[in-house]
This record gives sequence, structure tokens and C-alpha cells, in this order.
Amino acid sequence: MYVVAGATGRVGSAAAAALLAAGAPVRVLARDPARAQGWRDRGAQVHAVDLRDRDALAAAARGAEGLFVLLPFDLTAPDLDAYAAALTAAVAGAVRDSAVPHVVVLSSGGADLPAGTGPIAALHHLERALGATDAVVTAVRPGHFQEKVADVLDVARGAGVYPVLAASADVPHPQVATRDVGAVVARALLAPPARSEAVDVLGPVVTERAVAEVLGAALGRPLEVVTVPEPGWPAALAEAGLPPHAAAALAELYRADERGLLAPRGDRVVHATTPVAETVARLVGATAAV
Ligand SMILES: NC(=O)c1ccc[n+]([C@@H]2O[C@H](COP(=O)([O-])OP(=O)(O)OC[C@H]3O[C@@H](n4cnc5c(N)ncnc54)[C@H](OP(=O)(O)O)[C@@H]3O)[C@@H](O)[C@H]2O)c1
Repeated sequence: MYVVAGATGRVGSAAAAALLAAGAPVRVLARDPARAQGWRDRGAQVHAVDLRDRDALAAAARGAEGLFVLLPFDLTAPDLDAYAAALTAAVAGAVRDSAVPHVVVLSSGGADLPAGTGPIAALHHLERALGATDAVVTAVRPGHFQEKVADVLDVARGAGVYPVLAASADVPHPQVATRDVGAVVARALLAPPARSEAVDVLGPVVTERAVAEVLGAALGRPLEVVTVPEPGWPAALAEAGLPPHAAAALAELYRADERGLLAPRGDRVVHATTPVAETVARLVGATAAV
């Protein structure tokens, strides 16, 4: 049995789908099981579990061959560090209590660093906490998700603008599709490594200007790329609805990215191939249908 958290989200759903496609038994975890009914229809078990509930998670993971966990960012939490610390303590405790032999954790490039990376520092602490259990741990460390383009769809569609919170829109970065990350998670669960490892998952290398061109083509209108250099980040993030402490954490993340701190430094690299254009077409199609 493989236990998958976050199955109503992007990476978790891709991982659960890949496991089911491989014929593996799957138990998905959801805070609201009603939102996971589709998984039941596809043959998975569904357990109602909040990742902050150590006992519920331990009960769901007991006897399983592998467990997938993530640290969902909740930028509305009044104290981001306290939220992450509570979740980390519960998840690591549940791994201990359940004695599940293998854990795959959705981490991030930059999670080897203890600080200076905004919300990614919490993933460093989660990796460390899991590493202190008896489980073999696979830390899956993707770079930027291609799906972050969804954050700018409205402004692109409405105002013809593609905002980039960086000094330049012409710096190439790997951007990975979440379904490719989910596939890496599923492969790791099905074939656990002998010892713990960190796996960087990198997608095609693109600039934000190139993504803007792809998005403009999908929307049928050219987009103006507007770079917002660092002094403008707090205002731009506040305008996007973030409270000041969350905006500060994200600004630290963007600064770390500009300084190259999120580069791959794990034990090995997996190169994922889904092109950005495919992800953009899917996102544009999905929102057009709404
Ligand atoms: N964005 C990037 O470029 C990037 C890059 C590298 C790594 N990451 C990592 O990827 C993570 C997000 O992964 P994703 O995009 O697959 O997530 P997502 O689509 O935002 O989905 C989050 C999932 O977590 C579940 N969840 C939230 N809070 C929970 C809780 N307290 N207990 C149990 N389940 C909970 C949600 O379920 P319900 O709400 O249905 O309960 C949902 O299934 C980030 O947190 C970050 O760590 C992101």
C-alpha cells in the first residue's frame, strides 16, 4: 500500500494517478474526503487526515510500504514558521509512530540551506526531521513549477500584461510540470532507494519572456512583459492580496532565486520533459472552460 497526501493538489494527484496506473494499491489522504471521491471511484482508499494530526497520519501510514508527504504553504497562516513547525513535528512523529519504511517528501531546490530562502527553509527543517527518523527518505527537490503561470493568467488575459518579479525576464531557469514531479514521486515509492537521497527534478530551461510568448500565443494576444525589480516586490505582493509577513517571506525566496541559491545540489538530477507550452495550453483551456 502506498499512502499519498495532497491528492487533491497538483503533485499529489499526479503521484496517485501514476501509482494507480502502475496497478499499485493507493490510499489517498484528504482533509475533506468529499473532495477525494474521484479517487474512490478510481479504486483508491480515502482517509480523512490533516497532516497536522500526528495520530491520524500514523494510523493511515501504518503497514504501508511508502508514504508521500508535502508541506503545503498556507500564506494566510498568521505565523508561517509556527504553521510549518507544527506540521513538521506531526509528520515526523507520525513517521516514527507508524514505522513506515520509506517516505518521499516534496521538497524544493534550495532546501539544503537552513535559512535565507523564505518558505523553503521550512522544507529544510522537514527534510532534517524526517532524516532523523528510521525511515529511508527520498527528498524530491523540484525547481520552479510551470503551473505558476496560473498566478498571472487573469492579468494576462485582462490587461495583456505578464508581470515578472525579478530584475530581468531573460534569465533562463528550469521549469518543471507538476505531473512530471508526481511521476518521479511515484517511481521513488515503487522502487525505494537503499539509503536516503535528495533528487533534483528539473524541467525544460526557459526564460520568463519565452513563457510570456507561449502564454500570449495560447491566449491569442501579445503580452507586455513587465519586470518588477526588488524595491517594487512588497507593493506587488500586497496588491496580489498577501499579508505583509507572507510578502516578506516570498520576497526572501525571490531574492534567493536571483542569487542562484535554489540551484540543484542534491545527490542526483532527474530531467523532466513536459514542455511549458503543454502546461500553458492545459491551464488556459481549463480556465476558458470555467
Ligand atoms: N510552486 C513552486 O514552484 C514549487 C517549487 C518547488 C517546490 N514546491 C513545493 O510544492 C508544494 C505544493 O505542492 P502542490 O503544488 O502539489 O500543492 P497544491 O496543488 O497547492 O495542493 C496542496 C495539497 O495539500 C493539501 N493540504 C493542504 N493543507 C493540508 C493539511 N494541513 N493537511 C493535509 N493536506 C493538506 C491540499 O488538500 P486540501 O486543501 O484538499 O485538503 C492539497 O491537496 C509547496 O508547498 C512547496 O513545498 C513548489
